[in-house]
Amino acid sequence: MKTTLGFFGAGKMAEGILAAAACQPGFDPQTVLMAEKVPARAKEIAKRCRVRVTPDAKDVARAARVIFLAVRPQDLAALAADVKPFLTAKTLVVSIAAGKSLATLRKLLGRDVRLVRVMPNLALRAREGMCAICPAKNATPADVKRVAKILNGAGRTVVLPEKCFDAVTALSGSGPAFFAFMEQAMAAGGVKLGLPADAARLLAEQTMLGTAAYLRQSGADLETFISGVATPGGTTAAGMDVLRASDFASVVAATLKAASDRSAELGK
Ligand SMILES: NC(=O)c1ccc[n+]([C@@H]2O[C@H](COP(=O)([O-])OP(=O)(O)OC[C@H]3O[C@@H](n4cnc5c(N)ncnc54)[C@H](OP(=O)(O)O)[C@@H]3O)[C@@H](O)[C@H]2O)c1
Repeated sequence: MKTTLGFFGAGKMAEGILAAAACQPGFDPQTVLMAEKVPARAKEIAKRCRVRVTPDAKDVARAARVIFLAVRPQDLAALAADVKPFLTAKTLVVSIAAGKSLATLRKLLGRDVRLVRVMPNLALRAREGMCAICPAKNATPADVKRVAKILNGAGRTVVLPEKCFDAVTALSGSGPAFFAFMEQAMAAGGVKLGLPADAARLLAEQTMLGTAAYLRQSGADLETFISGVATPGGTTAAGMDVLRASDFASVVAATLKAASDRSAELGK
């Protein structure tokens, strides 16, 4: 059986990327080989996604030519020591390990292997992911195209220089938690106004989803959109007056700065 796609680690993010790959025409799950050291997880993903799974990452390094590296950053060194002897210039490794630079990956995985760094987010699992892509010098334009094609199956991609990755980590990598926090605050506000909790969550969530969908579809300028909803003297304008008089924008900026600084620290 020909192995075309490999994974080091078959956790949450790997499953999202697998779902993205599965959107490609002619995709055959039996050409995927995933290394997963948790036996229960290996069994479960093999059964549900009909992919092949091995407990030994070396099997993947030997067999696959494109490999997504999807173990946690703290497991990277041990994994790399194991697989490095099997990685050659014929292998493309796509790392999603947060904070691990191309230089670090190169040191750990060897000079020859072609590298692409990706910062994804959890929304991959709902096929609405956001991934930033940065190729190493030895990756080819065809490598970047191939990675983008796979990831576009589960959302959007953007190619950015590596110096942007701490900011990307803050904005779109950690972003789902920040938007969920906003949803939580909106829903709690709704409950304070007398709504049942589950209805308040639905109203907040669908409004967040619908707003993003509308903005994406229309390409509207954000300030024009806000003024369009907030007619003078109306309900939205009353709420926007409170928001604009608050520290909301600076709190959001400080939140992103803290996440970005932490990303830089973890990458050292
Ligand atoms: N979650 C996010 O929102 C997010 C966002 C952006 C980037 N990322 C990055 O995505 C990567 C994966 O995150 P995740 O949330 O998917 O992690 P996860 O669910 O913990 O999945 C990783 C899996 O790989 C297994 N593993 C570790 N070392 C292995 C080895 N040598 N051989 C085979 N399997 C091995 C782990 O087993 P054990 O549990 O036994 O270690 C675990 O089951 C991380 O590097 C993270 O930085 C995550």
